[in-house]
Amino acid sequence: MKEVKYEGMTFVPYISREEIDARIKELGKDITRDCAGKMPLFLCVLNGAFPFASDLFRAAEGIDGEIAFIRLKSYDGTSTTGKVKQLMGLEKDIEGRTVIIVEDIVDTGNTIHNLIATLKEKNPADVKIATLLFKPDALEKPIKPDYVGFSIPKKFIIGFGLDINEKARDLNDIYVLKD
Ligand code: IMP
Ligand code: MG
Repeated sequence: MKEVKYEGMTFVPYISREEIDARIKELGKDITRDCAGKMPLFLCVLNGAFPFASDLFRAAEGIDGEIAFIRLKSYDGTSTTGKVKQLMGLEKDIEGRTVIIVEDIVDTGNTIHNLIATLKEKNPADVKIATLLFKPDALEKPIKPDYVGFSIPKKFIIGFGLDINEKARDLNDIYVLKD
C-alpha cells in the first residue's frame, strides 16, 4: 500500500482491508448474539456506509435481519456543514422493530443524532448504532454507538466508502490525511 492523492492532498495507509474484514466479522458476531430472535432492520446510511453495511449484514448471517437504505449528507469537502440533509427517506414501517443504524463514521454525532430523533417518531422498539469508525474527541452530541469498528483520533480519513468530495470510496483500505 502506498500514498494516494486527491484534490492536491496526500493520504497515507491507516487501516488495512484485512483488519477491517476481521473487525467486521467480530461485530457481526456481537450483533448475532445481541439481536437473535429480534429480526433487526439494518438501516444503511448512504452513501458512505454501503461497503460496511454490505459486509456487516452478511457477517450477521442467520438472524433473519433485513436491510433498508436512507441517504443523508452533512459534509462538504473535509469539514462538516453542521446541517444534515435527508436526500432519500425511509419507506419501511419500523414500529415495534429493532433498528440498527449502520454508519461509516460518527464524527460530531450530528447526523446520527438527527436520524435517531426522526426514527423515534416512528415508534421503533429499539434503535442501535453500528459505526465502522468513531471519532470520540469530535463528538458534540449525547450519543453512544453500540457497535464500533475502530475508535480513531480527530483526523480526516478516506476509503472503504468514505469520500473526499465523492472520490476515494472505492479504496479497499482506509487512508488518513498526511500531516
Ligand atoms: P457527523 O454528523 O459530524 O457525525 O458526520 C457524519 C458524516 O460525515 C459521516 O457519515 C461521513 O459521511 C462524514 N465524515 C465525517 N468524518 C469524515 C472523515 O474523516 N472522512 C470522510 N467523511 C467523514
Ligand atoms: Mg456518511
